[in-house]
This record gives sequence, structure tokens and C-alpha cells, in this order.
Amino acid sequence: MAFEKNILCIGAGYVGGPTMAMVAAKCPRYRVVVVDIDKDKIKAWNSSHLPIFEPGLDELVHQTRGKNLFFSAEIEKNIQEAQIIFVSVNTPTKTFGQGAGRAADLQYWEKTARQILANSKDAKVVVEKSTLPVRTASAMERILNENHKHIRFEVVSNPEFLAEGTAIRDLEFPDRVLVGSRETPGGLKARKEVVEIFLNWVPGEKILESNIWSSELSKLVANAFLAQRVSSINSISALCEKTEADVDEVAGAIGMDSRIGPKFLKASVGFGGSCFKKDILNLVYICESYGLEKVARYWESVVEINEWQENRFVQNMLVNLFNTVAGKRIALFGFAFKADTGDTRESPAIYVAQGLLAEQAEVVITDPKALKNARRDLKNFKKGLTFEPDPYKAARNAHAVAVLTEWDVYKDLDYKRIFKSMIQPAFIFDGRNILDRKKLYDLGFNVFAVGKAPLKHF
Ligand code: UDX
Ligand code: UDX
Repeated sequence: MAFEKNILCIGAGYVGGPTMAMVAAKCPRYRVVVVDIDKDKIKAWNSSHLPIFEPGLDELVHQTRGKNLFFSAEIEKNIQEAQIIFVSVNTPTKTFGQGAGRAADLQYWEKTARQILANSKDAKVVVEKSTLPVRTASAMERILNENHKHIRFEVVSNPEFLAEGTAIRDLEFPDRVLVGSRETPGGLKARKEVVEIFLNWVPGEKILESNIWSSELSKLVANAFLAQRVSSINSISALCEKTEADVDEVAGAIGMDSRIGPKFLKASVGFGGSCFKKDILNLVYICESYGLEKVARYWESVVEINEWQENRFVQNMLVNLFNTVAGKRIALFGFAFKADTGDTRESPAIYVAQGLLAEQAEVVITDPKALKNARRDLKNFKKGLTFEPDPYKAARNAHAVAVLTEWDVYKDLDYKRIFKSMIQPAFIFDGRNILDRKKLYDLGFNVFAVGKAPLKHF
């Protein structure tokens, strides 16, 4: 069958893979190819064990792979054949030179742009899917268009707002799709081509068009606002613990104000994930580079509160476990940065595990999907660390359990059995407020939950 369009995505990660699977499922007339420099990852995408866990993803890939969705390691050939190229390679925080620890490292993006240029024989639309600093498109245009091939590339920004764990639903029913471009005739034509893809399943009124700079900046700002809400409620959680207010009750009360709204008000051990910290630090760096010191400090405090919250959680464990955890077995329930994903990037669990290991605790980590990544994250710690898929076994002979990810399975465990298998007095630290505190207390646990007064038997 001849396909109407050839769409390519460079970068088969958490964003590129699921997004293109959705495009392929909704647009059977398009041929969709996803390439990656990581050959093993491509092999995994072509196997029955996909490289990422995401509810609904297996079914979507099964439905489309080999029909109009292809995963390939042949980058050059596929660039040649594509009319529209989405670029979804990673843009981590820079670890060296100017802006280290804050600015986005754009080396993969630039290399990809040069690779597109080297392998193109005709005009193409290049779509920024990765989160990029505002005004990156202008650098990309310069790299792509100052060529001797007389080929014109149009750069379009189409940031992805999916959240892990709900990626498939977010892709199928997005709150909005944002497409930004230059407002030149060529830019507007390219914008239309990208909009047309989404019109295959997204209602027109949910597709927002804007200038390219607004689109680039909106992605950073959306993540900054979301993270700011989490840091705001987490800052209040500390005050609740001092005053016997209950943070969930406070969140419920303020969230019913329609001007505030109920979402992203769940106090926690801290936010994680590949985006929040990276994007805020990037925003901070951009503000600094434009001389906007006050604005930079304002947003930086969102990350500072998060680090403080993670640290507070570890300190609280330490103090309540009689100021020493050395040699004590402590079970961490959950290692992923949120439920329904195996992703552990920037997970608060990494910080908590490291803090406890530094105090010479015997840390046991359990998680339904993230143990492989947890092993990698903590590979430098050889002593005092075990990984155990079964939460009951993890808790056996432990002094304390700490819930770090809000997996549903942890809500329904037999805590009576767990309590009996633990060293007494037994402690539970709920970093996600998913457990029934009163019930646990009645079973004999000493219960500490974020933003709530402790329930202690002594
Ligand atoms: C990425 C970016 O990190 C994020 O800023 C953006 O918002 C969306 O895209 P994610 O998909 O979660 O997020 O990253 P990751 O899972 O690391 O996937 C990126 C993929 O690009 C990796 O598989 C990597 O191998 C690939 N890659 C990287 C290339 O194919 N070519 C490169 O030159 C560099
Ligand atoms: C986020 C954005 O939501 C998404 O739009 C963007 O494309 C990428 O970054 P993601 O990081 O996948 O998505 O997950 P998200 O649901 O936003 O959660 C981020 C972190 O905040 C998690 O660690 C989560 O547990 C935490 N969180 C979230 C809270 O602690 N409390 C809340 O109320 C909400």
C-alpha cells in the first residue's frame, strides 16, 4: 500500500515511542518510523518486551507494528524518505562548562539537526518534540538552512505534555496540542502540515497554534507551574505537621475553590521525573541569561523546596528511629518516581535510599516495575542494599517501611502480617499518604505520614 505521508521520529524514548504509536494508530494512511542511535532499544521495541512500561502501550504497539509503525536503527535512509521529522532526543541538564547543572545540554539536538541536513535531498519539516530552551528553533534554522543544497527546512515546535503512567490516555485525549511556527508563508504551511496530523483524532478546538517562541516557552512554563503546585503543598505539609492540621484536608478545602482546582495538590516525599527539575533549572538559567535575577530566584525556590522536602523525609525517619538507622533493615515500598511507570529518573526514592545508606542502614527496595532501573541508579552502593520483588519479604525483620511510590498494590497489602514479621517497635513512613493511618496505628504501627500529625504508641 502506498502511504500518504512518511513521518519519522528520531529518539525512541518515553516520549518518541508512545507518541508515534498513537500517531500510527490514528493515522493508518501514514507510514511512521521511529529510529534511535541505541540499537538495543530498537531491538526491544521490535520484541515482545518493550523498553518502557506504560499502561496500554503494548496493545497499541501490537496493533500497529509492522503495518504502518516501524522501529529501525537505520537513521540515514529513513531521514531521506521522511517529509516530517519529529525530534525527540534527550536534552539533559548540562553537566559541564557554562550553565553546568542548569542549562539544557543541546549537543544531541544539534548533532541530530546536522544528521538531518547531511541526509536530506529535499525540503522537510523538522518538529521539536523535545523540551528545548526558548529560541532554540532559531539556532536550528541556522544550522539546517545555511546549506549549499538549496533545501529549505521549516522548524516547528510541538511540545509533548504527556505524563508517564497515563501517556496513552494523554495522547489520545490531550487537554490541548500546541503547534508553534514562524509566521512566514513557509512557517505557516509547515504548521498546517503538523496540525493536520493531529486533526486525525484531536478536535480542532483543542489544537492551539502560536508563534514558535510561545510554543517553546509554554512547555517549560507548564512544567514549572505544575511543579510549583507540588512544592507549594509540600511546603504547607511541613506546617501541617507542626500544627496538627491535615494536609489532605487543607488540599481538599483549597482545591474546591474553582480558581485553584483540585489537581497537583497531593503532598509527597517530593516530585521526581525527567522533566520537572530539568525544565525549571533550564527556565532559571534562561531568566538569568536575560538579567531577570528575581524571576530566576522565584522559580529556583520550587526546586529548593523539593530538595528540602526529600531531605526532611529522611531526617524524620532518622529522628524517629531513635537517631540511628545503622544496621537496621528498612524496606522502601516503591522506587519509581510515580505509580504505573518503571521510570526512576530523579525519583525521590534515589535520594531517600542514598540518605539511609549513608547512615549505614540495611536498605531493601521493592517495586513492581522499577527494580532494574533502581539497581542501575544505586550501582555505586555495594553494601547494605538488596532488591526484593515481594513486599512481604522486603518488610520481614525490618524496623521500618517507607512508602515512596503510590502503587495501588501497597494500599491493599496485609499489614497485619507485615507488622507481625517486623522488628518491634515497627514504624511506617508514608511518603505518599496512600495508607489508612488509623488502621495501621490500631495494628500497632507507629505511623508517620507527610503533612499529618504522627500516630505513636509511646
Ligand atoms: C526526551 C527529552 O529528554 C525531553 O526533554 C523531551 O521533553 C522529550 O524527549 P524522553 O523521551 O523521556 O524525553 O527521553 P529518553 O527516554 O531518554 O529518550 C531519548 C532517546 O533519544 C533515547 O532513546 C536516545 O538513545 C535517543 N537519542 C539520543 C538518539 O536517537 N540520538 C541522539 O543523538 C541522542
Ligand atoms: C510531567 C508533566 O505532568 C507532563 O505534562 C510533562 O509532559 C512531563 O512532565 P511526569 O513527570 O511524567 O509529567 O509526571 P507527573 O504526573 O507530572 O508527576 C511528576 C512528579 O510530581 C511525580 O514524582 C509525582 O509523584 C509528583 N506529584 C504530582 C506529586 O508529588 N503531587 C502531585 O499532586 C502531583
